[in-house]
Amino acid sequence: MDLIESPAAMHSWGQDKPGQTIALVPTMGAFHEGHLCLMRHAAELSDRVVVSLFVNPLQFGPREDLARYPRNLARDLEMAAGARVDVLFAPKADAMYAGESLTRVRVDELTDTLCGASRPGHFDGVATVVAKLFNIVAPQVAVFGRKDLQQLAVIRRMTADLNWAIEIVGHPIVREADGLAMSSRNIYLSPAERGSALALHRVILWARERVKAGQSDAAALIAEVRTRLLHDPAIRIDYVSIVHERHLVYTPTLNRDSVLALAVFIGSTRLIDNSLLMAEE
Ligand code: PAF
Repeated sequence: MDLIESPAAMHSWGQDKPGQTIALVPTMGAFHEGHLCLMRHAAELSDRVVVSLFVNPLQFGPREDLARYPRNLARDLEMAAGARVDVLFAPKADAMYAGESLTRVRVDELTDTLCGASRPGHFDGVATVVAKLFNIVAPQVAVFGRKDLQQLAVIRRMTADLNWAIEIVGHPIVREADGLAMSSRNIYLSPAERGSALALHRVILWARERVKAGQSDAAALIAEVRTRLLHDPAIRIDYVSIVHERHLVYTPTLNRDSVLALAVFIGSTRLIDNSLLMAEE
């Protein structure tokens, strides 16, 4: 596996074997088994796999965890090398945003709700960096985790709107044995907080059972989910919502595209999770 740090060198690498397909897995590093699953899946879908590792300052708010976001390049290199990755592209911030960049990519509407409501500007930062990565790497396929439901919807829409011929693949959420969705931010949780975090997956399983038993009213289900989450005083709800998986609009009567989307704070750590409610995950 090669380590490439310069966007120009990355671009040339992508152009040197024209017949071969490239799958890109964009990441911010601090790899865990969830990332490795995305990488292995990317390898099944293409001839060559590029994993980008860039902690993108543009998507962090002023009071968010940019400075303390976990970074461990040596460990990440080792893990990616074991997952049939061809290139780890790890540019420095001044190479990605050389000079003063005046351009932002913004996807309207889809970015106003859910995480976008409490993290203003976050998705402009995500869309901008992913657009840059698409131009630098020029992949045919890009793989994203479904845990970031809104991010996936925004990237899909941006890709369609900007006419990139890139297949956007959403990989199912990868969970720990006890159900906690894997996330680089889980390391912030104390053992007690980690115990509280299990409530997210528990309430998802419970909600799916409620739907199987006939509940089809989103407002009622949201109220029930909120009540269950708030049984634990360590949990502060950011949002509990039920939306269409791709359009992110509220679905008052549940249908096969309805997703239960959750964001909570446990201590100072913000966790998200989601699940389709009727369809198989
Ligand atoms: O999901 C992430 O890790 C980031 O938001 C992404 C897609 C790599 C953009 O910085």
